[in-house]
Amino acid sequence: MEFKHISVLLEETIEGLNIKPEGIYVDGTLGGGGHAIEICKRLDENGKLIGLDQDEEAIKASTIRLNEYKSIVSLNKSNFMYMAEVLNKENIKGVDGIVLDLGVSSHQIDRIERGFSYNSDAPLDMRMDRDQPKTAKDIVNDYDEEKLYRIIKDYGEERFAKSIARNIVKERTNGVIETTTELVEIIKKSMPAKARYASGHPAKRTFQAIRIELNKELEVLKETLNTMVDLLNEKGRICIITFHSLEDRIVKNIFRDNEHPCTCPREFPICVCNKKSKGKVITRKPILPSEDEMEFNTRAKSAKLRIFERV
Ligand SMILES: C[S@@+](CC[C@H](N)C(=O)[O-])C[C@H]1O[C@@H](n2cnc3c(N)ncnc32)[C@H](O)[C@@H]1O
Repeated sequence: MEFKHISVLLEETIEGLNIKPEGIYVDGTLGGGGHAIEICKRLDENGKLIGLDQDEEAIKASTIRLNEYKSIVSLNKSNFMYMAEVLNKENIKGVDGIVLDLGVSSHQIDRIERGFSYNSDAPLDMRMDRDQPKTAKDIVNDYDEEKLYRIIKDYGEERFAKSIARNIVKERTNGVIETTTELVEIIKKSMPAKARYASGHPAKRTFQAIRIELNKELEVLKETLNTMVDLLNEKGRICIITFHSLEDRIVKNIFRDNEHPCTCPREFPICVCNKKSKGKVITRKPILPSEDEMEFNTRAKSAKLRIFERV
């Protein structure tokens, strides 16, 4: 199956990276290589692109897409939480730019058997990294009602989270919930008929929540962003595209804390904690897609780009 994915905020991200032809860049979420290829086009033979994705299919697709640049490209099937280790193996101590374009690719959603889509019948899977043993089926069948409620509410911002969680647990008494269609039916039954299609597909928010929980999307970002800032060379930049308000808040707060790390009480005349700023936030407000982009690519609608520059 051809890897189909329209890159979001492409020009803005590439411009935001301020690419030096001889620089070293990391794409931590390669996907179809849409951002990566634009970086490669701007590098010379001394430049380097390190690409990471936890999905084998993304690595395969990007290997083909970036073939023309293979002498300066190194692709790794890895979670970006291991970025420092991957760079270490390549003997790279610092980089000039890092891109993260978070979330799922359209390809992952289009591959029915991956179980990301609420529009097709498939086993409940939703793993970005298919080497990990736990799947969405484990979450749906093993989490208790309170835990299901919390993730559907927090990660899905779903109004009917309580009744969805209750009905999932109730339905489990009839046997294991195996497929996306079974889950969609439970979700639909948990909402008043009038509300079902009021804001998109009724299962959209619950599926998003389970996917975020399963792939530990927020934890990984929170735990690795500071390390990424530390990996940047002087004037190196990190560009992050988020698709969820909680994700965006993590990026905003960690960038801010790296710019203003001082923890001294306000009334102190001088800083005694000695925490030094690591750089500056380039985007006081996030960069949003243009009207044209949102019309052309519905996935872009919730996208936000934030940029940080190392001192
Ligand atoms: C939105 S797509 C990237 C699309 C890409 N920028 C392009 O233009 O083709 C996100 C990709 O990031 C990968 N991904 C998400 N979280 C990841 C993580 N923590 N580590 C590695 N890859 C991750 C997903 O598997 C997916 O392929």
